[in-house]
Amino acid sequence: MKVFLDTADINLIKEHAHLIDGVTTNPSLAAKVGANNKEKFRELIVQIMVAVKGPVSAEVISVTYESMITEIKEIERDICCIVSKIPSVPDLETISHLVIKLPTTPEGLKALKYCSEREIKTNMTLVFQPLQALLVAKLGATYVSPFLGRLDDIGQDSMAMLKSIRTIYNNYQFKTQILAASLRSPKHVLDVAEIGADVATLPPELLEKMLNHPLTDEGLEQFLKDWNEK
Ligand code: E4P
Repeated sequence: MKVFLDTADINLIKEHAHLIDGVTTNPSLAAKVGANNKEKFRELIVQIMVAVKGPVSAEVISVTYESMITEIKEIERDICCIVSKIPSVPDLETISHLVIKLPTTPEGLKALKYCSEREIKTNMTLVFQPLQALLVAKLGATYVSPFLGRLDDIGQDSMAMLKSIRTIYNNYQFKTQILAASLRSPKHVLDVAEIGADVATLPPELLEKMLNHPLTDEGLEQFLKDWNEK
């Protein structure tokens, strides 16, 4: 299972770059770091792509098909332009990591079809039921993002949804990768790994929780104490 970081905080991304395969962002995460205007957001996406060298999801803020297509073209143009100004970075390799994140709405699905026909990578976000996942896979999405924590928050069974998506994708050998999102706890990460999500995107504090165990710290302290005993 690949691990992505779910944040727009460039310092945390750099700190954890050796542990992660990619990054997801969304407009709320961008706003948290003050990158909630188009120019700043696109500059930030390039910084993230340079730091990680793996898939980086940039979400559109448009809601109609026409405006989404205009925005996708602008994002691609601006990101190519910003990357081309950084001499030390290979343009094509960097740009190949851009993933356009689209809402799973009727308009978003039209934009998905547009992207699939042009081999633009996509991440379909805000998925809350398996039938949405079926449709986006049929339209050739690169990633589907079921939001697990938000379903648990309203008392529904998020893991049942994830299992159902996994079964549907296996039945029809869909190539869309399941990107488990809105994860809240290490138990969530364990469950999605057992069910067979292709990717889990984690907030930085959750990635840190996966790393730590008090017995690891205690054991290391004891080893060093024993080694240094006269
Ligand atoms: C995924 O791409 C989303 O950014 C994210 O996982 C949403 O998580 P939240 O429900 O904790 O906001």
